[in-house]
Amino acid sequence: MAEIDLGALRRNVDVLRSHVDGGDPSSDAFFAAAGDPPSRTGIMAVLKADAYGHGAVPCAQAVARQVWGFAVSLVEEGVELRRAGLIDQPIVVLGCFYGLSHRDVVAYRLTPVVADARDLSRFARAAADLGAPRVPVHLKIDTGMSRLGVRPESLDAFVDVLRAEPGVALGGLCTHLADADGPGDETTHEQLERFFACRQRLSAMGLQPGVLHAANTAGAVRFGSARLDLVRPGIGLYGVAPPNTALSGLWPVLSLKTRIVALREVPAHTGVSYGSRTRTQAAARIATLPIGYADGYSRRMSGQAQVLCGGRRCSVLGPITMDMTMIDVSAVPDVQIGDEVVLIGGQARRDCVADAPITLDEMAGWAGTIAYEICCAISKRVPRIYTGL
Ligand SMILES: Cc1ncc(COP(=O)(O)O)c(C=O)c1O
Repeated sequence: MAEIDLGALRRNVDVLRSHVDGGDPSSDAFFAAAGDPPSRTGIMAVLKADAYGHGAVPCAQAVARQVWGFAVSLVEEGVELRRAGLIDQPIVVLGCFYGLSHRDVVAYRLTPVVADARDLSRFARAAADLGAPRVPVHLKIDTGMSRLGVRPESLDAFVDVLRAEPGVALGGLCTHLADADGPGDETTHEQLERFFACRQRLSAMGLQPGVLHAANTAGAVRFGSARLDLVRPGIGLYGVAPPNTALSGLWPVLSLKTRIVALREVPAHTGVSYGSRTRTQAAARIATLPIGYADGYSRRMSGQAQVLCGGRRCSVLGPITMDMTMIDVSAVPDVQIGDEVVLIGGQARRDCVADAPITLDEMAGWAGTIAYEICCAISKRVPRIYTGL
């Protein structure tokens, strides 16, 4: 099971808030209720990909009073939050691809980020059909990520279409930083310069850009000039400090735990798991865990990963299989079927100080990836249990 500590999530919002404006972790939701721009930098909690695997609805409910609003990638993700009763605050759809979902965006009062001028008339038509007011869109500028957004040189053409479409209004201007957690500042400064030039250009054309937002977690912590009206932290909420940020004081939110389902004593040179290429060096006690790569426990960690059992680090033995993983518990006294094993997080030890907790970053190192992918990959069949409600 994955244990999600919502108290830790809330404390992380406060930690990020203190970085963004030097303290005062009071409510942002107040400002969003009226649909107003925040009177200071607001927090748009990034809850896409089911809140990076943590569960979007409980996470949104937990932090709603602390943040201006939420960001998701897909329309469906926004609809899920609205249907769960999160009806008061803005939900910004970052993904920019709307397929046949323009009516849902309007019906559920989602705020679409747009980069394709053809979407403007589609939103306007959906609003007219539903008798809804003008749709506030956030215009995305590609300032250097080359992923989504209007290129600065195409801004004028986009604005011509926008002006000709009375059914939509410009509610915001945004971009995404490609290298805010990189070792240098240059790329971010260049991106922000391009972004500010676009804001100027809009003003010169007589358009108010609405709320401005650019910063992910690393951008919000490292670059004061990127904070603007809103910041869009994701990974920091979930307790992981991006590289090169010196962001301290975050609380781990997610623990991944299981229980031993089988135990065996084997002699030296016994094959373990598929291929039998992994053999015990000496007589060993092997425990089987009911978790494997179908649960998001990546096979790429085979031969490297460790877990905590009885408060001690134990090695994963042999290839991780689809549903099960074997570990070496030879050093754990009195180990029994049913004992708890921690794959992410910490575990107490009875006799003395426990071994170090396993972090998302450490696991990412074993899997040759980043912490984001580890938590997003924990699959649906792993039950999520919420604490700190
Ligand atoms: C557009 C956008 N904004 C904000 C974020 C949040 O970034 P982070 O999780 O690094 O804070 C993401 C995440 O990938 C994103 O795609």
